[in-house]
Amino acid sequence: MARNENCIIYAVVNQKGGVGKTTTAVNLATGFAAIGRRVLLIDADPQGNASTGLGVPPREREQSCYDVLLQECSLQEAVVKTRVPNLFLIPSVVGLAAIDVEMANMVDREFVLRDAINDGEDFYDFIIIDCPPSLGLLTVNAMAAATGLIVPLQCEFYSLEGLAHLLQTMELVQKNLNPGLELEGVLLTMYDRRNKLTEQVAAEVRDYLEDKVFQTIIPRNVRLSEAPSHGKPAIIYDYKCPGSQAYLHLAREILKRLAE
Ligand SMILES: Nc1ncnc2c1ncn2[C@@H]1O[C@H](COP(=O)(O)OP(=O)(O)OP(=O)(O)O)[C@@H](O)[C@H]1O
Ligand SMILES: [Mg+2]
Repeated sequence: MARNENCIIYAVVNQKGGVGKTTTAVNLATGFAAIGRRVLLIDADPQGNASTGLGVPPREREQSCYDVLLQECSLQEAVVKTRVPNLFLIPSVVGLAAIDVEMANMVDREFVLRDAINDGEDFYDFIIIDCPPSLGLLTVNAMAAATGLIVPLQCEFYSLEGLAHLLQTMELVQKNLNPGLELEGVLLTMYDRRNKLTEQVAAEVRDYLEDKVFQTIIPRNVRLSEAPSHGKPAIIYDYKCPGSQAYLHLAREILKRLAE
């Protein structure tokens, strides 16, 4: 089946750990689902944080992203419902950590996720892929499948070095695997107004990437970090907290851009 041309596929990527990828993937997915879009979140990180954060514990992960990548099941067979209406999940399992080795001899191994999505049902408005903190085969599969990249960036000095490397990787993927791939946007996360360096880095990123930086900024907010331990997206756990409101704002910003 041909891919649903209207389905937007975002890979949430940054090879640096702990910058807010999973928090962004889960809450942006929830934000889209909350306004009635059908959303599939693919947890492509062996850590399984998005799966846990959506209240799907390891024992409920029968089929997973691992089975999809080894072509042992179809995309739809691995999908589980979440407690959030309109939001579906392909969970991760720890075994995903060995996938680079297991796929080593597979032909066209960069395209397995893309092909699984193409064969999937014509069912979702958005597919969001939560990537691990590396530029290995899982992230390359996500980039090869995506229509756009969302890059959460913590406003720290070293973030900029990592960003340059990430953008080079994106260009390689564009050239060799996925010419349609675009940088949807860099998202400033864990923003702390009281910290001078934060503002400085944010200004530098905007200087460098201009309108490729989302207007929405995600503040540092403890409610965002509490929510996963309750197995809920922050937007469900505490709708009104500044972090949730920022992610809803981001969802609206993206929808507005797409409409233009
Ligand atoms: N805006 C925020 N304010 C406060 N805490 C946050 C915020 N965003 C994320 N966190 C917390 O920071 C930690 C790292 O966030 P998250 O797991 O989203 O990053 P990640 O990039 O997915 O990490 P990894 O690279 O390990 O997958 C988590 O404990 C999360 O709850
Ligand atoms: Mg993560």
